[in-house]
Amino acid sequence: MPTDRLDKFISSQSGISRKESRIAIKQGKVTVNRMICTDPQTKVDPQTCKISLDNVLFNYKKNVYIMLNKPKGVLSASMDKNRETVVSLVNDEQYKNRNLFPVGRLDKDTTGFLIITDDGDFAHKVISPKSKIEKKYLVTVEGKIDVSTMRKFALGITLADGTACLPAKLNILNNSTDKSVAEVTIMEGKYHQIKRMFGMVDLPVVELSRLSIGRLKLDKTLREGEYREMEIFEIQTILHTRQ
Ligand code: URA
Repeated sequence: MPTDRLDKFISSQSGISRKESRIAIKQGKVTVNRMICTDPQTKVDPQTCKISLDNVLFNYKKNVYIMLNKPKGVLSASMDKNRETVVSLVNDEQYKNRNLFPVGRLDKDTTGFLIITDDGDFAHKVISPKSKIEKKYLVTVEGKIDVSTMRKFALGITLADGTACLPAKLNILNNSTDKSVAEVTIMEGKYHQIKRMFGMVDLPVVELSRLSIGRLKLDKTLREGEYREMEIFEIQTILHTRQ
């Protein structure tokens, strides 16, 4: 039976500090299974105990999974001294005491689907190429995407530094000598991977946006900079995705 200290539970679930939660407990504002509990050190089972603060029952969440539509100009990091980060965009009080971080990185000028979580195992699974979880991007490049580019992507591009990329899918949506638009699907997240892959075929990337992770698409109702918590079935949709 997993147990937590009551003050730790209150703090993690509400966003208030451990000190504030100890005070609230001592003031009789907290109930455990409908009984007022004034000892902050009480051990509770977060899965089964019904715990309330100020008469509001907690809906216990071990971890949180947030879908963010990343805007341009924001750093994919938890914290930065001077620059805005994706985690600083998720600024609800309730998440304050969770160690949130982004699942992988999108470049500063890339937009789209990014997950913010405090679940390291989940993040590892999503990022690891071994999981074969596909990430689909919408890309705009300068120039025309030809058949030989499609073939090279399908075989797996070797980057300028010798790094071999796994085969990638390329679905051309709009092709012209000036600018072309395509969907690219990869299973890895190497540094600047898509820009470097297109760089190898002399097609500079001018716009990049992530559309989906596994079989889960970015919620179209989220505008850039907006986010929402993900549902359990959405997490499962991502994890159960296999090629
Ligand atoms: N590939 C890139 O080049 N940039 C991203 O942000 C994501 C994939």
